[in-house]
Amino acid sequence: MSRCATVLIARPLPAPCEARLDDLFLTRRLPGEGPHPLPELLARAEGCDGLLVTLTEKLDRAAIAALPAGIRVIATMSVGFEHIDVEAARLRGITVTNTPDVLTEATADLTLLLMLGAARRAKEAAALIAEDRWGTWSPTGLLGVDLWRRRLGILGLGRIGAAVARRARAFGMEIHYHNRRPAPAETSAGATYHARFEDLLAASDVLVLNAASTPETRGIIDARALALLPRGAILVNSARGDLVDDDALIAALESGHLFAAGLDVFRGEPKLDPRYRDLPNVFALPHIGSATIETRTAMGMCAVDNLDAVLNRDGLALNPVTLGPVT
Ligand code: DGY
Repeated sequence: MSRCATVLIARPLPAPCEARLDDLFLTRRLPGEGPHPLPELLARAEGCDGLLVTLTEKLDRAAIAALPAGIRVIATMSVGFEHIDVEAARLRGITVTNTPDVLTEATADLTLLLMLGAARRAKEAAALIAEDRWGTWSPTGLLGVDLWRRRLGILGLGRIGAAVARRARAFGMEIHYHNRRPAPAETSAGATYHARFEDLLAASDVLVLNAASTPETRGIIDARALALLPRGAILVNSARGDLVDDDALIAALESGHLFAAGLDVFRGEPKLDPRYRDLPNVFALPHIGSATIETRTAMGMCAVDNLDAVLNRDGLALNPVTLGPVT
């Protein structure tokens, strides 16, 4: 097909996505793995019609204002889009798209890994093997806690939250959730709704964060929220690091108020508060929720489909992002 539109690709994608981009567009790439400083991205965007970015490209108001006039679409290969000032883009007539749905199952799997890793003290146990310190099987060694029969609280019962709930039911957990409004029956599938976040906290032996990062949710897990969790609770975060007040969480883990935390995301990542590294009851991973071959390929393809729809077809994005309320 004739390739008229030019797309700047900020980070290397899985090979099938790269090949499809070359098939559909004139392509331009930033060198190496990246991420690259913003001025480099802006300079290379000159003469482009679309951008393919990821959550590492922080396109705030100033960056959006500095984009070349020809940019019509920004496709982010992520479901989260808090790294883009969507309103500033809208005012410039730039469509922003994301990649919902395709990462739901992989992210839910990873959330269960965090839950299990935290409940079963996987960090301490794996260290015994890695550091050749395993002395003996012990009747009292490395005792974790059961998930079976525990109450799972989900903040944000949307696509990923519902997929986590499905898995947790198979573990014999009782599901509770808080959204701004009750989820439709097919999503909640019998889970108990709490209209007040505080009530969800009191009912959560394990609290999983599945909410987007918005002005309402940033810092929502603070000292007050943590104090409302039952003693011995577990916190799991596979959403965004800035939902959590790090000082408050670390204090709750150090004091023993929380049994453990499973964390895949961190405020200011890839840098993280070094205390998380030292705490034995923190099972931490480096933001790999969607990191499977199948899912990252599907996310890349979804971003390409959106660029194709806007730049080569009728101009209507398949997954335009909007600033609606967060569930
Ligand atoms: C997203 O898509 O927002 C995820 O955090 C990346 O896995």
